Amino acid sequence: MVLVGAQWGDEGKGKVVDYLAARVDVVVRYQGGANAGHTVVVGGREYRLHLIPSGILQGREVVIGNGVVVDPAALLREMEELAGAGCDLSLLHVSEAAHVIFPYHLVLDEVEENWRGSRRLGTTRRGIGPAYQDKFSRTGIRMGDLLHPDYLWERLSARVSHVNAVLRGVYGGREFDPQEMFRLYCDYGRRLAPYLTDTTAYLLRALREGKKVLFEGAQGCLLDIDHGTYPFVTSSSPTAGGACIGTGVAPTLIDRIYGVVKAYATRVGDGPFPTEERGEKGEILRERGREYGTTTGRPRRCGWLDLVAVRYAAQINAFDGLMLTKLDTLTGFSRLPVAVAYRWRGETWREFPRSVKVLGECEPVYRELPGWEEDLSRARSWDDLPPAARDYIRLVEEETGVPVCLVSVGPEREQTILLREV
Ligand code: IMP
Repeated sequence: MVLVGAQWGDEGKGKVVDYLAARVDVVVRYQGGANAGHTVVVGGREYRLHLIPSGILQGREVVIGNGVVVDPAALLREMEELAGAGCDLSLLHVSEAAHVIFPYHLVLDEVEENWRGSRRLGTTRRGIGPAYQDKFSRTGIRMGDLLHPDYLWERLSARVSHVNAVLRGVYGGREFDPQEMFRLYCDYGRRLAPYLTDTTAYLLRALREGKKVLFEGAQGCLLDIDHGTYPFVTSSSPTAGGACIGTGVAPTLIDRIYGVVKAYATRVGDGPFPTEERGEKGEILRERGREYGTTTGRPRRCGWLDLVAVRYAAQINAFDGLMLTKLDTLTGFSRLPVAVAYRWRGETWREFPRSVKVLGECEPVYRELPGWEEDLSRARSWDDLPPAARDYIRLVEEETGVPVCLVSVGPEREQTILLREV
């Protein structure tokens, strides 16, 4: 089963993965890097994970697939935190083919963003874009390379001398000492060696043995490099197809695909966002929903649920079901606008435009639903939900043509309503 964010990320996938982990044997992350952030609350304790799938908190085998870009320093920090919380790290498997993030990727992310000025993308500055650039320009270094010092030195020294030339010539910035970096990354390699493996072979074996595998996408499909709001996107493929590329598991081996939809919309970083609420209501959503980035702490831009965008996500991912999160956050609004179409230069569009230029000029066409006053955080079944909340869920189903399988009404594992078996 694949779980994909159906908006601009931060849909609450971490909590859903944590909930679903109880039903699967293995959880695998297939793209992105430490730009993602999951906040999972278990027994009142909060865990902030960036790279390691939250399934490890449930004692599941977890995999970081080849499609991920790994910052070894960030990974080791996370491993230490989890070990401190009593997690069994022998459950962790990291792909030898995942690309490595080096300090120069973080610096390049920073200087390139600054260089763009007002045309910036609003990246997380975690080196994600530059690491994927290296991957595609064939100058990247993979996790398995850290275990072969001669080969690592050959590739790293060549890369660092090029990066230094760029930093010197274009940005006039700090340069890197390749020797020092080499020693540091050899040490990372030694510490991570027990976890590095051929994760494709591992996953194929697990599937052959009948194990259930959950493929977890980071970010959301509107941040997909191909299918998102380019250029305001991340550098990888969060859409369901990315699960195959990012793990080496073929499409025919994947049975179901679920989309995680937040009951309203948020976006971090720049780029068009038709249902954004810049005023007081947006502020209320931000405060009630604690909409601050797990990774960067940045306040998220907030707005109303955009079903044009979710419908598009449902089409390109062929969702079997939706998981609707943070419904409890909407309590207390007298009216709830939901975008069901866009208006662009006098025309009404039900399709999500592929051009970011057009999207930036679109005005949402809202259906206004009555809100509810009831606190939803104790609701555990459909019958516990007030009629207005049920209508809200029904509208999501009608407009997307996809059934809602699960509703989340709070950060705790128990604050989950299962409407249909998944
Ligand atoms: P990058 O992934 O750091 O290169 O950033 C590219 C775009 O993706 C920016 O708009 C980021 O804010 C956004 N982005 C990256 N990771 C996340 C995430 O986990 N949640 C939401 N937005 C993200």
